[in-house]
Amino acid sequence: MADTYLSLTVDLPEAEAEALEDALHEAGALGLEVRDAEAPPMPGVRGPSPGEAIVVAYFDERAAAESARERVASDFPAARLRLEEVVQQDWSTAWRQHIHAVEVGRLWVGPPWQLKDAPADKVRLVIEPKMAFGTGDHPTTSLCLAAVDDFMASHPGASVLDVGTGTGVLAIAARRLGAGRVVGVDNDATSVELARENAQVNGTPEVELSGTPLEEVPGTFDLVLANILANTLIELAPALAAHTGQALVLAGVLAHQADAVGAAFRAQGLTQLKGAQVGEWVRLDFRR
Ligand SMILES: C[S@@+](CC[C@H](N)C(=O)[O-])C[C@H]1O[C@@H](n2cnc3c(N)ncnc32)[C@H](O)[C@@H]1O
Repeated sequence: MADTYLSLTVDLPEAEAEALEDALHEAGALGLEVRDAEAPPMPGVRGPSPGEAIVVAYFDERAAAESARERVASDFPAARLRLEEVVQQDWSTAWRQHIHAVEVGRLWVGPPWQLKDAPADKVRLVIEPKMAFGTGDHPTTSLCLAAVDDFMASHPGASVLDVGTGTGVLAIAARRLGAGRVVGVDNDATSVELARENAQVNGTPEVELSGTPLEEVPGTFDLVLANILANTLIELAPALAAHTGQALVLAGVLAHQADAVGAAFRAQGLTQLKGAQVGEWVRLDFRR
């Protein structure tokens, strides 16, 4: 087995991504990775610019990779390309260097192997990176963690609903910071399973984690959190607003999408507050 392979990374307008994927398959790519609005990158991995997608194609032969690069350059003039030789690493551990613990307010969130370095005065959450979103170090997650920290400081015992819970990180954080009833839902079965594992590991097995569709979750909650993508948030606006008792926090929204998302929730009778921003990612805050 070769100890190196080649990766061709292509940034291009999202509308052209499907045609590019076909072209790369035809050009002999062994595998493709797509990062776009539908498939946000894993934490620590570079994401596409707004309106763009990133497609990474893997090749085991330099000749095939170079001819694919030439073909893409001529057929997709708007594309930016980078061909790299990648040395095989021990993939079972190499990715670990990309995972960073974060400190947000009273919280420390990090992987198990960094726990020994976590400050003892923090509320420490251990999230092992697996196939669910939410290890803490993505800006959308840390923006929400800050909101959870703030809200729980002034509302001990509050009920919390986390829609699109992923690893369960926000739900678990809320509970560890003194929330009463905490419910987390996700429409991805693997995420629900991992969120339950994480709740156990972090001493919060009482957090109610399931794949229940939002519309079927009974009642209202003092704080509702939803870190999903802008288009999904807009679709879910009536149901999210209906579950909001006091406060609603949205993330997963890019700066250029903030007006549309804000308008959809103001139309549900919620009052928009100041919010927060990290880079291109914005957090939208509302109160009833
Ligand atoms: C960006 S991740 C957020 C994970 C975690 N809450 C965090 O803040 O890091 C979005 C999650 O929403 C889930 N999701 C997407 N659409 C959904 C829907 N309509 N209902 C419930 N969950 C959804 C995805 O499966 C994914 O786990």
